[in-house]
Amino acid sequence: MSSVARQGRVLVTGASGFLGRWVAFLAAQVWEVLGTFYQHPVAVPRVTLTPLDICDPSAVDALVTRWRPEVVIHTAVYIGEPARMYQVIVEGTVHLLRSAAKVGAFFVYVSTDLVFDGEHAPYTEAAMPRPILPYGRMKWEAERAVMAYPGRTLVVRPSLLCHLNPPDPRTRRVLDAAYGKIEARFFVDEFRTPAWVTDVARTLVELVDRRASGLFHLGGPQRLSRYDLAVKLARALGAPTTRLQPGYREESGLIRPRDTSLDSSKACRLLRARLHSIDEGADREDVGRWADPVIRRQAPEPGDPGAWHTTPGGERST
Ligand SMILES: NC(=O)c1ccc[n+]([C@@H]2O[C@H](COP(=O)([O-])OP(=O)(O)OC[C@H]3O[C@@H](n4cnc5c(N)ncnc54)[C@H](OP(=O)(O)O)[C@@H]3O)[C@@H](O)[C@H]2O)c1
Repeated sequence: MSSVARQGRVLVTGASGFLGRWVAFLAAQVWEVLGTFYQHPVAVPRVTLTPLDICDPSAVDALVTRWRPEVVIHTAVYIGEPARMYQVIVEGTVHLLRSAAKVGAFFVYVSTDLVFDGEHAPYTEAAMPRPILPYGRMKWEAERAVMAYPGRTLVVRPSLLCHLNPPDPRTRRVLDAAYGKIEARFFVDEFRTPAWVTDVARTLVELVDRRASGLFHLGGPQRLSRYDLAVKLARALGAPTTRLQPGYREESGLIRPRDTSLDSSKACRLLRARLHSIDEGADREDVGRWADPVIRRQAPEPGDPGAWHTTPGGERST
């Protein structure tokens, strides 16, 4: 990827999110980036931030047709109440696709390994999705909407994303369990191919830079159980591991894919950016320990027309 700033406008949805902030930050080293947030105003160096609810088609259309991006990188997501989840994941993506088509933008969608049922790992890009969770089903429906887009598209499927500085919410939960603040069990019989969020953002930006289209899996090179991942993250942060309790998905009664490990060799063959293993990245300042670029901003009080207030070092806790 060239370090020289280029002409070209990129819209990143979900730029206040865990992955989106890194994508916006890294993309802004190359292009002019407009990032969107929904409920958590943030500042990201060299990125212009604006509020957007992707469930509001006229707001989406106004923003996209005014900014006229060459590339739309859609990372925004909501996971929670099912009806709202459908609005954000499926309908929000469709609104963005419609508006992006009007300006002829290259459309990039961030999906997930949870489009797979977990029974046939490792999954290459040729594998047929068969999601078993509502989240996975909605992401697969959104993927299919993206595939029907009339212009160029890129769909990436990361696995679990991790970061240490500061710990992402999942890693924070591992720490809380390690220090006895919460009771949690980590499944020894559920497998993923976790990756560092900074690596996934870097590979995504390189794919966009190369105008790669199609489908790419962006999982890490290590297949790990949730328990082994928890132990590695706790160790990386110097936390004790004796309180981390193993558990069994099989006995939990939960319906969850057993093993959605991704084969990401297609991306590895093409790209200069590397997807480091959890072991490698834990020791690297520019991977697992790279400081979060986001500064949290607070909306002005009602009636106060002043600028956004900035809280240094702030981080959203979800
Ligand atoms: N995290 C993982 O381990 C993981 C694994 C595989 C795939 N993925 C995929 O990676 C992408 C990013 O995930 P993430 O974990 O970074 O998500 P996240 O941290 O939960 O961030 C979600 C983002 O979406 C925004 N958003 C929520 N509702 C919105 C709406 N109605 N309109 C516009 N924006 C809205 C949020 O804005 P505010 O915060 O400002 O409200 C936030 O910026 C998603 O597509 C997800 O499916 C994530």
